Amino acid sequence: MHTRGRRAERGWKAGCGPFSGWNCCGHRLAPRVVWLVLAAATCTISLNFVTRWSPYRTWSLRSLAPRPGISPRGAPSGRPQPLLVPRKEGPQWWDARNSASPVVKPPSQAGGPWRMWYYGRAGAEWSKGLKAFLPTGRIGCAESDDGLKWRRRKGPLEGGACLDPSEEGFDCVHVGVGDVVELPNGTLWMYYFGGGLDGLPNEGIRMQIGLATSDDGLTWHRAGDALLTPSGEDFDALFVAWPRVLPPWQTRDVLGLSGKWYMTYHTAQFGPEGLRWTAGAALSEDGLVWSKVGPILGPSGGGWDALGVGVRHVLVKDGALTMLYEAPSASRGCASTR
Ligand SMILES: *[C@@H]1O[C@H](CO)[C@@H](O)[C@H](O)[C@H]1NC(C)=O
Repeated sequence: MHTRGRRAERGWKAGCGPFSGWNCCGHRLAPRVVWLVLAAATCTISLNFVTRWSPYRTWSLRSLAPRPGISPRGAPSGRPQPLLVPRKEGPQWWDARNSASPVVKPPSQAGGPWRMWYYGRAGAEWSKGLKAFLPTGRIGCAESDDGLKWRRRKGPLEGGACLDPSEEGFDCVHVGVGDVVELPNGTLWMYYFGGGLDGLPNEGIRMQIGLATSDDGLTWHRAGDALLTPSGEDFDALFVAWPRVLPPWQTRDVLGLSGKWYMTYHTAQFGPEGLRWTAGAALSEDGLVWSKVGPILGPSGGGWDALGVGVRHVLVKDGALTMLYEAPSASRGCASTR
């Protein structure tokens, strides 16, 4: 019924789901941002889903598709309400200017809090005095009892942040959270991305993927150097960023992945007609040493995702992977299907 080839990692197909037009966040530089979007919205991004080895199913789309103002089951519907607003706690907070791209973890034990890590910054500049061209910068944390009302948690760094750019590493200019995995023993692993002083055409663009660990979600320690870097002349030569990671206990039932760590990320290429966005994947035995498997989903050439695939989320459903992704159409800088 389905193809189960050895190049399974590359076997993504776009689904025919009608879901689109999730209004959210906005910045000039298209597909980016976000998962749940927290801040004010000025452009439209679109989400659709792709599925691998499993046919399109309306029910799965419906049950997974975020609605404007994303909310857990039982949440009030209606106009989207921001869950966290920049500057609400005053200009001294680390994310007084923008709060974006949250990674949300439901309680891991009954009665525990919902936790969220997200990135943002307080001003127009990144570290080293560079002018920012993405909403990244620093990383912080928020908590909630019900997934609806959130409060910022004060991290140990200036302004209450949890993770800052390094002094002189690959990530010395800006950082952003990609995913957070809770290990069976409770330790948290954050897969983040960051840019440093190298990169063309702009410093900060050559983003790489790193790991930080924490026991409480607030104090984070970097675990060595970058785990994944842009490669030479390949499709991901410009940057590798926005990682999403499935640990082995979630890939157990997925044919071809079972027992492995699975990461997706995205990159972009400058072409004659502007930027094109492509998602890639990597596999690992331990979550630390990764080998790339190449591009998994790129520009469709037409329609709502004509220019490629940006920030995405992958989950396991009935032994198959399902991807929700954000994408730009060809019509404008920001994606739209309408
Ligand atoms: C949990 O497991 C990880 C990976 O094996 C290890 O690095 C970490 O120290 C452990 N944490 C605790 C609290 O034992």
